[in-house]
Amino acid sequence: MKVTVVGAGAVGASCAEYIAIKDFASEVVLLDIKEGFAEGKAMDLMQTASLNGFDTKITGITNDYSVTANSDICVITSGIPRKPGMTREELIGINAGIVRAVSSSLVKHSPNTILIVVSNPMDTMTYLAAKATGLPKHRIIGMGGALDSARFKYRLAEALGAPISDVDGMVLGGHSDTGMIPLTRLATRNSVPVSEFLTTERLEQVKEDTKVGGATLTKLLGTSAWYAPGAAVSGLVQAIACDQKKLFPCSVFLEGEYGMNDICIGVPVILGRNGIEKIVEMNLTDAEKENMLNSAEAVRKTNGLLEL
Ligand code: LAC
Repeated sequence: MKVTVVGAGAVGASCAEYIAIKDFASEVVLLDIKEGFAEGKAMDLMQTASLNGFDTKITGITNDYSVTANSDICVITSGIPRKPGMTREELIGINAGIVRAVSSSLVKHSPNTILIVVSNPMDTMTYLAAKATGLPKHRIIGMGGALDSARFKYRLAEALGAPISDVDGMVLGGHSDTGMIPLTRLATRNSVPVSEFLTTERLEQVKEDTKVGGATLTKLLGTSAWYAPGAAVSGLVQAIACDQKKLFPCSVFLEGEYGMNDICIGVPVILGRNGIEKIVEMNLTDAEKENMLNSAEAVRKTNGLLEL
């Protein structure tokens, strides 16, 4: 199993680290445009192998896509991260050109790859990668919902005073401060609805804290987060590599599902060796459906800024 991660910045390096530590891939190629940077990160990570007990080989390379050839899974983290006060949508001007070029180069050398897009604005960058590469829809996956759901569970556990392992919950919709839809109705503490423990007001607070999860960290760190994004990507990569058939919310190209067409947005999917093995169409309430439509409208507005 060969995995390529493009972008050796904080998110890309975290991805490579978590993938290696889980020890399911034979090789991870880390590629960056900055001379020597990916080589340095890869060497540093390889020097953790004997300490952390993994055999995954991590190779760093400066912009030579021939080294990525025949990757089973490619992850795109390239582009600029947001600064405090910025929305993810404001990154489109620079990141669209980068994601278009990177996705095309990757697919040229790995025509059978499954592509995972992390760069922001993620739903629009996933849509762009789908259009630029022409890959079938089951092989293009945007990573947002897995991260947002992890942040939702963190906030739920905090509000409940419960261990995270007791908590389950999922976030659908666009990966943006206003577009995320944390499904509080379906969140549970070990099968008991969280509404049994928390007031409506407290649940609203959890929802709001989840939606601005990325922005909160950007303000604290001065740049966007990397540990949870890296861990979320590694979860998707492992589900595919190990054919786990796990359910994650991911941004995927819709053709009629949830009444939407020609858009990538977060919905529940089953991930296995073939990539997206199924889009799960769950029953939503009228309010949740309306939130999905509003979220999609915002994603479409950002997609409209692309030159396709
Ligand atoms: C975040 C970025 C990765 O939410 O979108 O942290």
